[in-house]
Amino acid sequence: MKEFLETTNYLKEKVKNIPKIAIILGSGLGTLADEIENKIIIPYKDIPNFPISTVPGHKGELIFGTLNNVPIVAMNGRFHYYEGYTLQETTYPIRIFKLLGIETVILTNAAGGINLNYEKGDLMIIEDHLSFFSESVLRGPNLDEFGERFIDMSNVYTKEYIEILKPIMQKITGKCNLGTYAYMKGPNYETPAEIRALRTMGADAVGMSTVPEAIVARHSGLKCIGITCITNMAAGVCNEVLTHEDVKETAKKVEGNFKAVIKELVKEIKN
Ligand code: HPA
Repeated sequence: MKEFLETTNYLKEKVKNIPKIAIILGSGLGTLADEIENKIIIPYKDIPNFPISTVPGHKGELIFGTLNNVPIVAMNGRFHYYEGYTLQETTYPIRIFKLLGIETVILTNAAGGINLNYEKGDLMIIEDHLSFFSESVLRGPNLDEFGERFIDMSNVYTKEYIEILKPIMQKITGKCNLGTYAYMKGPNYETPAEIRALRTMGADAVGMSTVPEAIVARHSGLKCIGITCITNMAAGVCNEVLTHEDVKETAKKVEGNFKAVIKELVKEIKN
């Protein structure tokens, strides 16, 4: 607990007005950072006990400020299990958000589309997730200061916020996909057989982030929202070879809509 408090105290000294909303910027959504006003930028490397981002193209900084006049903090660059961090390290910032007094976490990501009605470039509201192929981030001694040992998982993605998000999504993108996100550890993309299996299990999209963070948010009583950008159709759905470059390119094309959705959402959450 000592390390968590050390990190929290450092941030509280730097930032006098702590917001209620945190946003984790997924692949390709980094330019939302440019729209934050009244910024206080804190590089991860300066924050005691914070992990450091290793993926090219992922920045590593916390940005406190206002978005659409709403106070927020954004994580520009997140930590993935496939980079070599432990699951506890990947979710360290979520616990810090809780200790800072933040109430809602907006998790964004890029993912492959499994649902055959989806198209590359669609956005999807995460309604629920599958996480069969990873151990739980909560494995090990329970951190009683944050939450209980055994936690209910029937409302990880706050229903009230999903309802707020639906009309925003419809208005801005002309479509409102609501789906189940399957978490895979990566860093390799899935095989076509894995994608067929995931579809049978009920997955609509597949990605390599978000779920550990959502579980920790749930454990510590934070409200949680997940939004996915379908940057590609998953392996075997069409005959395309998957590359990180393509994922980034699609994310870039959709970025305008994605940013517009988040900006409206934070306004509605605040109200
Ligand atoms: N699979 C897993 N993660 C991803 C994908 C994918 O197809 N696209 C973007 N992130």
